[in-house]
Amino acid sequence: MTITRQPEWNAEEAAALIAPIVAAESGPVLLCLQAVQAHYGHVYSDAIALIADACNVSRADVHGVFTFYADLRETPPPAVPVRLCAAEACQAVGARTLKAEWSAACEASPELATLTGVDEPIFCLGNCALGPAAMVNGELIGRADVARLCQAIDAAQAQERPL
Ligand code: FES
Repeated sequence: MTITRQPEWNAEEAAALIAPIVAAESGPVLLCLQAVQAHYGHVYSDAIALIADACNVSRADVHGVFTFYADLRETPPPAVPVRLCAAEACQAVGARTLKAEWSAACEASPELATLTGVDEPIFCLGNCALGPAAMVNGELIGRADVARLCQAIDAAQAQERPL
């Protein structure tokens, strides 16, 4: 996966993005939120009202769905998001130690912390047999340690750079 720059908010574009979803689905609020996030990288606050109008529900309804799902975000993602699995199988093989070591690495390097963002725990990446598991810029990492995370971050950055 390459690092992608997200487009700026555009209400007309967003309306066109969600219109087919609203036309095809019943109860499409979550699908609309996911579509907006997939396109813009996060859910702009203006999208809440737009989706509410399109789906004929209240802004509170849309906001309720938005805040229920932890994967929906209101701020742009970091350049190379890093997420560490915090579920039980990974805890049994060192996820807490990895989290502590990763936090220490980010504290020691503000550039690393800015590049990867605050680790948002995730609960099972479906990679339990290779725990502790992590996801770096959308790529699964098994048997993760700080060195492997840094390698994956370097690889993600290298993909973005022009040749
Ligand atoms: S518990 Fe970590 S990947 Fe399943």
